[in-house]
Amino acid sequence: MEKYAEQTQQEFEGWEEFFNKPVDEKVNAFRSGDRIYDVIYAQQFDRKFLDYLCRLADSIRLLAKTKVGQSKLRHLLPHKRAMLYFVQPSTRTFLSFQNACHILGITTSETRGTSTSSEVKGESPEDTIRTFASYVDLIISRHPEAGFAEKTAWVLNQTDHPVPVLNGGSGPDQHPTQALLDIYTLEREFRTIGGLDGKKIAMVGDLKRGRTVRSLSYLMKNYQDIELVYVAPEIFKMKDDIKEFLDKHRIPFTETEDFESIMPDVDAIYMTRIQNEYGSDPTSEAETFPQFHLRPHHLPKIQTHCAILHPLPRRYEIDIRIDKYPRAAYWRQERCGMWIRAALIAYIFRVDDEILDELS
Ligand code: NCD
Repeated sequence: MEKYAEQTQQEFEGWEEFFNKPVDEKVNAFRSGDRIYDVIYAQQFDRKFLDYLCRLADSIRLLAKTKVGQSKLRHLLPHKRAMLYFVQPSTRTFLSFQNACHILGITTSETRGTSTSSEVKGESPEDTIRTFASYVDLIISRHPEAGFAEKTAWVLNQTDHPVPVLNGGSGPDQHPTQALLDIYTLEREFRTIGGLDGKKIAMVGDLKRGRTVRSLSYLMKNYQDIELVYVAPEIFKMKDDIKEFLDKHRIPFTETEDFESIMPDVDAIYMTRIQNEYGSDPTSEAETFPQFHLRPHHLPKIQTHCAILHPLPRRYEIDIRIDKYPRAAYWRQERCGMWIRAALIAYIFRVDDEILDELS
């Protein structure tokens, strides 16, 4: 659809000052009482919360195995409505959030692009989000701009009708709920070998613009004796802000371009794709970086317990012949996304006790 007007720019008093504060000083603005209210950054999660959410996700998963259990879950939040505002492409995050809502009985509405909303008339995104809050009880957003979810949650919290905002991906910056599902997957994959504590994890690919590896790196501070190995071509190395965070929290990490050399040492390999959508790098268009791909002939090199993850979508990074390998966890991982997001929404709306009571 034709765009009638340029987007209206609005200045919110106090926003710049808030935005420029360190994240540690901002997290309280996104809490309500004893709980997280808006989910904006991975730094909001502590170990107690992560363990609790994994336990809650396991309970939802178990209940959902039966018709009676599914019906109980659907009767938890039928009085709530959610808006999925996804103006950047998404398959898994959108569908897993939408289905997580439906599991709990929440009705959903959606916008999947700005072309059919009043944003073509020049409405500011902040006004658009405020409009959603007039109709629904929860907003889940995915946006190409870094900091979008943060700003809209902050703006809503200044109004007399705020609703929780969940960040389903904010540009190349953060993807906190992906980090939750990655943790949930890793904890499950390592369930028989002591969980995630003490493990060595390789993250491979476009670490510079991949938001999933950024958010997951932040969460590592919650686990004991973690080691990270960043495997990336020189132009897509992990950015300094994350490395400074790891140094500050004394999480050892190494960087290499030699993927094969680290394969035997790690307990998990987290693959990612080249994020061409953010690219002005000409090389990122032309190159698929085959030396950062996982191929069947690599499998004998990795430890038998080593879990293979990928946030998906994949392109050529993981050969489809690896899908049959029992430690290929990425299809399980995308399903974990639905359960952990259902757990998160149940927690936000404080029906978690009812779920746990059901199984006790
Ligand atoms: C990721 C994303 O959107 O950041 N996908 C997802 O949410 N599962 C990873 C990607 O697009 O590469």
